[in-house]
Amino acid sequence: MKIAQLFKRLFHRKLSHQTRRYKGLYLPLARSNEGLSGDQEYVNSAVEQVDDLMQFCELKSNMHILDFGCGQGRLANGLLVRAPNIGCYYGIDTNEESINWCKRWIQRYHSNFSFIHVAAHNARYNPSVNSRPELPAKANSFDVAFLNSVFSHMLTDDVQFYLTQLHGVLRIGGIIYVTAFIEKDVPPVEENPVDYLGRKSTGALHRVRYEKSFFLGLVENAGFSLVSYINQKIERTKQTVVVARKIA
Ligand SMILES: C[S@@+](CC[C@H](N)C(=O)[O-])C[C@H]1O[C@@H](n2cnc3c(N)ncnc32)[C@H](O)[C@@H]1O
Repeated sequence: MKIAQLFKRLFHRKLSHQTRRYKGLYLPLARSNEGLSGDQEYVNSAVEQVDDLMQFCELKSNMHILDFGCGQGRLANGLLVRAPNIGCYYGIDTNEESINWCKRWIQRYHSNFSFIHVAAHNARYNPSVNSRPELPAKANSFDVAFLNSVFSHMLTDDVQFYLTQLHGVLRIGGIIYVTAFIEKDVPPVEENPVDYLGRKSTGALHRVRYEKSFFLGLVENAGFSLVSYINQKIERTKQTVVVARKIA
């Protein structure tokens, strides 16, 4: 590795442990989300999603929510603004540094929030491991599974695997709230489609785009019934929001 690259990596690692206090929250200094370097935008992006989620479920003190691919706890911070007394929030991610940050700056201060690292392969986020472990969560125990910008970085085989896993850990009647790149009249699945959204994709799995019927078929085949579909609902990333309910 070149010296400049090594310094860059060490600098990023140092930053990734650091935090900034903002309106009573702790926020990560180095952020993995595109276009969310400003604190207000970062927090607002999470609060808007929590508000959207509340159209589909009440975030009460008996509610259990699973944030799969939780990253640096962006949604957790949104919940701390809108629903700090939620029954249980459980964040899972394959990036160990993100999970360590969340344990240190969120879990330590909020006993109803916990974060778990899983060493799962992802060609973009964790290429060095080969495993794909089952979700470390109890069957039929969650009311909501939230996945923001996670299936946007996964190919079909992983999406099918995790939909089945999420179906297993949700209660009957529980919902999945998923954002992904989904469009009509495109191939069933494509990694980094050229000129998609007028943006350049760089590196493995930067933007994985699905065709609408194909993606909804995966959701339905995993045992979910569609509740809501809004194309490019997330203005910043142009990701579509799919909400579906576990029916049996
Ligand atoms: C674009 S980031 C989104 C982070 C977070 N959901 C948010 O909205 O801020 C995608 C996240 O998914 C995680 N991820 C990807 N594949 C995963 C897997 N197989 N298991 C757990 N986490 C995964 C990555 O490590 C990364 O933190």
